[in-house]
Amino acid sequence: MRITGRTDLNAVKQKGLKKLLCDKVRIAVGFATCGIATGADEIFKTLSKSLVNAKERVSLKKVGCIGYCKEEPIITVRFPGKPILLFPRVSPEKAAKLAEGVLAGKISPEGALCRIDSWDHVITKISYGDGFGEIPRYEDIPFFKYQRKLILRNAGIIDPEDIEEYIAVGGYSALIKALTEMTPSEIIDEVKKSGLRGRGGAGFPTGLKWEITAQEKVETKYLICNADEGDPGAYMNRNEMESDPHSLIEGMIIGGYAIGAREGIIYIRAEYPLAVKRIEKALEEARKYGFLGERILNTSFSFDIRIVKGAGAFVCGEETALIASIEGETGRPRPRPPFPAEKGLWGKPTCINNVETWCNIPLIIAKGGDWFSQIGTSGNSGTKVFSLVGEVDRVGLVEVPLGTTLRTIIFDIGNGSPEGTKVKAVQIGGPSGGCVPAKLFDTPVDYESLKSAGSIMGSGGMVVMSEKTSMVETARYFLTFTSDESCGKCTPCREGLKHMLNILERIIAGRGTREDIKTLEELALTIKATSLCGLGQTAPNPVLTTLRYFREEYERKIKR
Ligand SMILES: Cc1cc2nc3c(=O)[nH]c(=O)nc-3n(C[C@H](O)[C@H](O)[C@H](O)COP(=O)(O)O)c2cc1C
Ligand code: SF4
Repeated sequence: MRITGRTDLNAVKQKGLKKLLCDKVRIAVGFATCGIATGADEIFKTLSKSLVNAKERVSLKKVGCIGYCKEEPIITVRFPGKPILLFPRVSPEKAAKLAEGVLAGKISPEGALCRIDSWDHVITKISYGDGFGEIPRYEDIPFFKYQRKLILRNAGIIDPEDIEEYIAVGGYSALIKALTEMTPSEIIDEVKKSGLRGRGGAGFPTGLKWEITAQEKVETKYLICNADEGDPGAYMNRNEMESDPHSLIEGMIIGGYAIGAREGIIYIRAEYPLAVKRIEKALEEARKYGFLGERILNTSFSFDIRIVKGAGAFVCGEETALIASIEGETGRPRPRPPFPAEKGLWGKPTCINNVETWCNIPLIIAKGGDWFSQIGTSGNSGTKVFSLVGEVDRVGLVEVPLGTTLRTIIFDIGNGSPEGTKVKAVQIGGPSGGCVPAKLFDTPVDYESLKSAGSIMGSGGMVVMSEKTSMVETARYFLTFTSDESCGKCTPCREGLKHMLNILERIIAGRGTREDIKTLEELALTIKATSLCGLGQTAPNPVLTTLRYFREEYERKIKR
């Protein structure tokens, strides 16, 4: 069906709502990579087998990840008119028992973690039902309580491979508004008003980047989604694509209209096969419904998106290296300026944004820039998704308003260290970031505060470390990563990181000297100041922050 306006969209919305609020029992298996890694595939097979003759009464679905990765595999069950029940750590045996109960027409809420009475899909709110008063509400579970889900608003609830379910929760209404009620410059103004800053790490104002690209008076322009996420411990973008791919696609189509591009490219690392598959499926469906292709919504705007798979080099996440890789060249950074907004892919103006940046766009257009700017803090509006991993009890994907403190994320949401050991530090921003010590956990998570703590926001990886962790070895781990991933184009990064690594090895082996610490610091500052791209400019950060906050650990190794 080709959608041409709101009436068509509403008809599809009703079809989608019938699936979400169906008069059958709806069982949904969390089927993102984290769920699959803990056995979701087997659970799904068990349920399919048990319920093979009950298709009239039961709808079995695959959904994305609701974020509580520690509790995977997760399944949700909804009886008509009742709240959704969320069952954690489901085994095939538990799944078979659950199916038995469903077939017998009753479900025991025993073992349920929580119930979802209603869900705020932000553009729409859906009431799922009443009952099961004995089960805690979703909002009361500490892992969820302190979060605010904008980007992850549909993750774990809708089927990411079914466009009708995305439309049911308000999907593509922002696109209709943008294309039929707004001019490109009004869209850019709205994005500027929202205060959205790029979620790929540097925090560049998105509206301004769009404006620069839009002002280029050439016929061919490109739009790129950077989905090359490669920081150790980071998987936010993967989940965003696996759980809600249409949100990204809708954001990109609006962006294409705003800057005047006809072609968009999603650059995804090939190690994300499920994300690739779901994006491919979503693109196909978006084309079928007329959201991509010629004369979208019967307007004069035509736009399409294709996928380019990256081979997994960390440096290819850097925007100019990524562009070189799409052009078929070796993925190596190029000097900037010129910036891609002026001269990017094939020498044409190119607007490149991170997955999460694009996912914010439909919300900004649907709800307004002013609404968005009220979330978070002044200069740091909106939310940010973090992957909370490492030595933390409640591992998972956490979305909080910017300005939330590290303490809230690590202790209130994450419940601190799993074995009751003390949390010592958190590495934020991956190998380009830095280790923030526990004494600074009242730091609000925003671009400037993290920078003044010696770290960076990065794209959202948060690796928690307990007192059992050696900070010198942590610095070595990240430096080994960046040294291996250095493209070798410039000497300070190529040679300097190796020298730093040799010194660290020497210190860890107990053969270091005080002079070594001085040399490490000097080298780190030189590499930061003289490297061509962000990889070299930030690679010394883990060493510098561990030296700044945990110097005694280095000195102890030297004394020995
Ligand atoms: C070594 C390196 C790796 C990067 N990796 C990513 C990445 O995986 N994803 C991403 O969006 N940005 C990454 N960036 C930042 C991009 O160069 C670019 O700033 C970003 O895609 C712009 O999008 P934004 O404005 O939405 O943040 C990386 C930068 C460097 C230096
Ligand atoms: S800083 Fe490192 S990764 Fe960047 S261009 Fe130079 S050698 Fe390559």
